[in-house]
Order: sequence, then structure tokens, then C-alpha cells
Amino acid sequence: MSNKRPIILVVGARPNYMKIAPLHKELESRGVNQMLLDTGQHYDEKMSKVFFRDLGMPRPDICLGVGSDSHARQTAKIMVEFEEFCRQHDPQMVVVVGDVNSTLACTLVAAKMNVKTAHVEAGLRSRDREMPEEINRIVTDSLSDILFTPSLDGDENLKNEGVGDEKIHFVGNIMIDSLFDILDKCHQSEILESLGLIGSDYGIVTLHRPSNVDEHLAFSSIVEALEHIGKSNKLVFPMHPRTKKNATEMGLIPRIEEIPGMEIIEPQGYLDFTALMASAKFVLTDSGGLQEEATALRLPCITLRSNTERPITISEGTNRLVGNQKADIIRGFADSMNGDYSPAPLPKYWDGVTASRIADIIVEGME
Ligand code: UD1
Repeated sequence: MSNKRPIILVVGARPNYMKIAPLHKELESRGVNQMLLDTGQHYDEKMSKVFFRDLGMPRPDICLGVGSDSHARQTAKIMVEFEEFCRQHDPQMVVVVGDVNSTLACTLVAAKMNVKTAHVEAGLRSRDREMPEEINRIVTDSLSDILFTPSLDGDENLKNEGVGDEKIHFVGNIMIDSLFDILDKCHQSEILESLGLIGSDYGIVTLHRPSNVDEHLAFSSIVEALEHIGKSNKLVFPMHPRTKKNATEMGLIPRIEEIPGMEIIEPQGYLDFTALMASAKFVLTDSGGLQEEATALRLPCITLRSNTERPITISEGTNRLVGNQKADIIRGFADSMNGDYSPAPLPKYWDGVTASRIADIIVEGME
């Protein structure tokens, strides 16, 4: 099989790595000729390289090194570089994951070059087109030939958009494969010790959505809520570079630092972040992936958004949407802390072997 034209696995930004690592391993074990391509959308050591190490992924075969820019320029740069790469390597299939700009850009290129595209984490919809990721999801799904869904709401969304049944494969949540793997290694992390958190109750805060951190009004309303919650709760806040930059420009850093019990830290790698989550009491976040990881860990998740593309984390999980207004966050937080999150069965196919199901279907579709 290894002489055949390669399959290209695309990663670009932080949430992509844990979705590609288990699939890369499965395809490797089946002897598939694959190449790992990193667009370089994320480039900081802490946003990118450390994940390769933590996930046991090989170094990428190629990095396009595109870096940060406006949406149009970043997407366009990836497209130009990826088209050239495809010309040189003549892939038989491109596999993209998630909903970041790299996902969209590489799908567009592959579709125009008539290269088969597979999308892992297909069908999710927030129905909020102000989210750049929603645009990326809609376009990626409409152009992809093979659609791997993490939950059955994804199948429904795709069918409602007119996608044929034969393209849709409900395979489960591949991020849970990586989560189960890393949980076994969390004892190797020294993060709890180094932050003095052993035996203490704390919550994790993560923020990076443009709708929360790009506008002063929204960001300061969230900071006010954190000021309230932080009076009686220890908070650990690994700060995304975008959030740090905006908070600095808006003069919000001193206010956040002054919150009693608040610890601002650098973005963490996958091992240390999962170790932090596994011992936390709650998560306050606007991330997509964390809603799922919190559900898998049965950890109350208070999501600072008014919608989610992952509704199963509410119907079958620990997630609660609270928006970004101070009073709603404080009320939602209190309700979540009074909730019952005793162990319950996880959603179907969140079982740690999604990558194997995907690899079987990919191999079947190969030339
Ligand atoms: C991207 C994804 C988002 C995902 C998030 C996870 C898109 C549209 N958004 O958002 O879906 O949830 O990644 O982190 O693809 N920066 C650095 N170093 C880096 C990367 C970014 O300093 O390694 C800073 C730069 O100032 C940059 C800003 O963060 O301008 C935004 O980066 P970008 O990749 O455009 O989007 P994210 O907000 O990270």
C-alpha cells in the first residue's frame, strides 16, 4: 500500500492536533502512505510544538509557516502554499479536521484540484454565522466527499442541508481517543505541584473567541463576572495570546490580576492542561473542545457563549450556556455548581476508538 499516492493529514491550529494524532497512528499501523502537513496557523511553542510532543506525533513532513494574519490573508496564504504542495505530491486524499481557517483553506484547494476530501468532525452547527468557525464548517462540509460526524446531531444537520446519506459516517468523537490516552499519562505532569494546587479546589478559565475578547464591552463584562466568582473561588487562567494582546491593549490585565485567587498562566500543553482539568472543580470557557472534554470528565462547564455547535454536551453532558453578560454568568455559574454531575454514560461512540473506525473507512475508499 505504501507506494500509492499519499494521503495528506492537515493540522494548523491548537485544537487540530488531538484530532489528527490518533488517526495518524491508526493509518500508520495499516501501512498507509500518509504525510502530515502543518499549515503553521499556530506557531508559538505553547500553541503548537508542545502538542506534537505530548501527543507522541511525529514532526510534520512539511510546515507551510503561514502564521497569523487577517482571515482573508491567512486563508489565502494557506491556499497558495497548499496548492503548490498538492501539485508536487499528487495526493489521493486530503483529511481535514475541525473548523479552523486551515480546515477551510485546504478543503477549498483539494476540491478545486479534484482531490477527494475527508472531514473529521463534520456536521456541527452553531447557526451563528458571526462565528468564523461556522462559515468554515459550512463550506468544508459542503465540499467534502467523506463526512465523519462525532454525534448524531451532525448527521441530521448534514441531511437537512441536502448531503447524501452515502457521504455521512457517524464514527464518534476522535478527541476523546486522545483524551483517554493522555489521562493515563497525567501523573507525569508537574503542573499541579508547580502551581501549588495539590489538594485545593479551583476552576479553570479559558477565553479566546473574538465575540468575547475583541470588544471592550463584552470583555469587561466577563471580567466583572470573574471578579465576583473569584472572590470565593480559586481560578487558573491559561491565557491565549489573542486574549493577552487584547486585555493588554484594553488595560484589563491589572484588573484580572487583582482578582483574589486568580492565577494567570501561559497557554499549556496538552498533558499539563489535561492534568489541570482532571483535578478541577469547574471550567469557565468559550472553547468548543473544552465543552466536550468537560463532559467526558463529568466536570461542570459554564460556557460563555449564547450558542454551541456541540448541543450533545448539554443534552447528554455537563455543559451550560450562559452568554457573556455579568449577571447571566454569575447566575449560570451558581446553577451549575448546584447541579448533579454524577458519572453517567458518555454519548455514543465517545469510546476512545473513533480513529480506528475512521481509518477503516478511509482505507476502504483508497485507490
Ligand atoms: C484559532 C481558530 C479557533 C480555535 C483557536 C484555538 C480560526 C478562525 N480560529 O483562533 O477556531 O478555537 O484557534 O486556539 O481558525 N497568536 C499567537 N501565536 C500563535 C497563534 C496565534 O500569538 O501561535 C495570536 C496572534 O496575535 C493572532 C491571534 O493570536 O493574530 C489569533 O490567531 P488565529 O490563528 O487567527 O486565531 P485564534 O484566535 O487562535
